[in-house]
Amino acid sequence: MANAYENMTAVELDREIESLERQADEIRAQHLALDMARGKPSDEQTALARPMLDVLTSSTPLEDGGAFVDNYGTPEGLPSARRLAGEMLGVSADNVVVSGSSSLNLMHDLVTHGFTNGVAGNKPWCQQGEVKWLCPAPGYDRHFAVTEHLGIKNIPVAMCEDGPDMDMVQHMVESDPAVKGIWCVPKYANPTGITYSDEVVRRFASLRPAAPDFRIYWDNAYCVHGFGEHDDVLLNIFDAIAEAGNDNLAYEFASTAKITFPSSGMAFVAASDADIAEIRAAFAVERVSAEKLSQLAHALYLKDLAGVHAHMAKHAAVVAPRFALVEEKLSSGLGELGIATWTHPHGGYFVSFDGPEGSAKAIVSLMGDLGVKLTPAGATWPYGKDPRDTNIRIAPTYPSLGELGRALDVFVVATKLVSARIARGRAA
Ligand SMILES: Cc1ncc(COP(=O)(O)O)c(C=O)c1O
Repeated sequence: MANAYENMTAVELDREIESLERQADEIRAQHLALDMARGKPSDEQTALARPMLDVLTSSTPLEDGGAFVDNYGTPEGLPSARRLAGEMLGVSADNVVVSGSSSLNLMHDLVTHGFTNGVAGNKPWCQQGEVKWLCPAPGYDRHFAVTEHLGIKNIPVAMCEDGPDMDMVQHMVESDPAVKGIWCVPKYANPTGITYSDEVVRRFASLRPAAPDFRIYWDNAYCVHGFGEHDDVLLNIFDAIAEAGNDNLAYEFASTAKITFPSSGMAFVAASDADIAEIRAAFAVERVSAEKLSQLAHALYLKDLAGVHAHMAKHAAVVAPRFALVEEKLSSGLGELGIATWTHPHGGYFVSFDGPEGSAKAIVSLMGDLGVKLTPAGATWPYGKDPRDTNIRIAPTYPSLGELGRALDVFVVATKLVSARIARGRAA
């Protein structure tokens, strides 16, 4: 759709800017303090898991499939917790390690393991010269921070509607042995909300990496987080890898962070037989065993995949109206103008928004000035550098519906004002 502001005369634009500046002044005078920055569940959502806190009592048997919950041991995780995690990821419990409460922590541990000790018997990356990592962008800022922190070179890869640009991924992975990994959020991606198509998953599974120590970091953080009428279906990466005659190609991660309590749940990683054996050995140096009381509580409360889905349906009832409100406010406020596009996810935690070129930083800054905190512009790109400065991540779950509505009204005004100023600059 044509950008309506680009078609206005300078006089018309001046009038529009004046009117929008007046609206901005009125908003500023309200001294708002709203937050659409981080993808956190709302209080209403975390309250859904409170009954789990009553599951463990002083008389609960602290034994699980022969493992002791109340003492050291079973570093790979309790049998019931591994079974639950395996069901969620569609893999055998034998190929899962449940450890800690943060999947990001497990990803960090494994990148560090590659860096200091090497993957699959290969030289540690710290002795291999330059190490590169592929970063589909827009993507998850904390992923990029992990590899950046170790001095690994983050390389942006374009995100398409059905996943990363696989021609570029294949070319880079198959031709450059310095490429050791790629960050992927294959279902309800952070922040675009898209789910990788079967074709994209199959192309990942068929990769023939130039580096024997290359792994796909398949962060399936939103595997059970659909809120639409139909849940997106993601092909099982390990099934696809087996079909392609490959092995030892992917680590898959997830956690209950956005199912029960962020930072107080259980996190897990799945991998091939050889890779999971290596992961277990690497983790054994770091920890004797993980917090099994939390694992037991989760296994007793959620029980199985059906239990997880039943619990997630309650989240969906809270979350869906918020995403519907984003859609409604953006389409009624901006839809006719053709100045922006945004995604329409069926699950996950984010909407990815693109304004005119050169607008994102200015919109986020103006929003801050008007009392609404957003994720910093550029955060969705490696090194915080969005080359076109268009992308903004909208996180609608945390605020109440009322607050979200107000924040979106402000967002519409800020987007229009910045876009009109950009068009006016061009018309000058
Ligand atoms: C894609 C993705 N992975 C991982 C995480 C963090 O998960 P955890 O709390 O298990 O570390 C998030 C949180 O926003 C996320 O969006």
